[in-house]
Amino acid sequence: MLKEKIILTGDRPTGRLHIGHYVGSLRRRVELQNSGIYDKVFVFVADAQALTDNMDNPEKVRQNVVEVALDYLACGLDPSKTTMFIQSQIPELTELSFYYMDLVTVSRLQRNPTVKTEIQMRNFETSIPVGFFTYPISQAADITAFRATTVPVGEDQEPMIEQTREIVRRFNFIYGDTLVEPEILLPDNAACLRLPGTDGQAKMSKSLGNCIYLSDPADEVEKKIRSMYTDPTHLRVSDPGKLEGNTVFTYLDAFCRDEHFQRYLPDYANLQELKDHYTRGGLGDVKVKRLLASVMQEILEPIRTRRKEFEKDIPAIYDILKQGCEKARETASKTLDDVRKAMKINYFDDEALIAEQSARFAEK
Ligand code: TRP
Repeated sequence: MLKEKIILTGDRPTGRLHIGHYVGSLRRRVELQNSGIYDKVFVFVADAQALTDNMDNPEKVRQNVVEVALDYLACGLDPSKTTMFIQSQIPELTELSFYYMDLVTVSRLQRNPTVKTEIQMRNFETSIPVGFFTYPISQAADITAFRATTVPVGEDQEPMIEQTREIVRRFNFIYGDTLVEPEILLPDNAACLRLPGTDGQAKMSKSLGNCIYLSDPADEVEKKIRSMYTDPTHLRVSDPGKLEGNTVFTYLDAFCRDEHFQRYLPDYANLQELKDHYTRGGLGDVKVKRLLASVMQEILEPIRTRRKEFEKDIPAIYDILKQGCEKARETASKTLDDVRKAMKINYFDDEALIAEQSARFAEK
């Protein structure tokens, strides 16, 4: 039998989703969902993982579950094609995590680069919560429970997928071929790998106030683009401008296509021509920002409109998630059955075991 092609990915509900999420993974997911080449697509809200570093703020996590779900639907994830669910409602995932813990060493977790930077970022130092420290293991459970073959995520998730692959290989080596080794699917465009904040900082983050959210109203987006970081040495229009570290051009790299020039700036055929003009001198930031604003509004407008529609019926969003959870549990519990069997902890559904032991004791 040909292996099924299965997509799985998710996001922590710690805030509304922003355009970094969009170019890093969301846009791709919708394309994959609609491509018809995948047998199943699972997208979930990782609330249990969000609690590993927000244990003292459950209300924040709870409020953001629906925000993330709304962002998913607004972007075009379609519940008739994609199973959308909430991580904490799938208890099978915790059980899988518990067994996978036997396959991972403390030092391996300590070497996980994402965990390392996150520990520094959060000033956990010597008081690292065990749940947080071990979240790569729980992430392996998320991925393997659904036999995912393909995990579309941002670059920062690479160490997580690598750790998952190691767990799968070790599990299959010890207990026999049971789990599926997933592959990461990164954005193919360098600008999308890690979209900087509007202030030019490496990462978009709510606390830095440098994000453009998918649900930001149009005037807010306009304002954020107008104040965006460019080339600080590009003072006069006639000055030559630099592209490296110039956020407006990074965003254009991520969002702009040739057709946008015909619509919004027909003096240029494509982004390369615009870049050439900018580096030569004679092109002002305002004009480039105006182009970016037109492009971004064109992309964000339909997302905003759809979100507004979905916001009118919140109970319906919970229905979608609830049905998704039921479907997700069915799949996860099948995997858990296989895992228990492979690990020889399936006592009550193994007649051969009971028969063999009866015979052995009878011989004594
Ligand atoms: N760690 C991911 C993030 O921070 C969220 C996540 C949890 C995830 N489990 C996953 C992503 C499984 C992909 C697959 O965005």
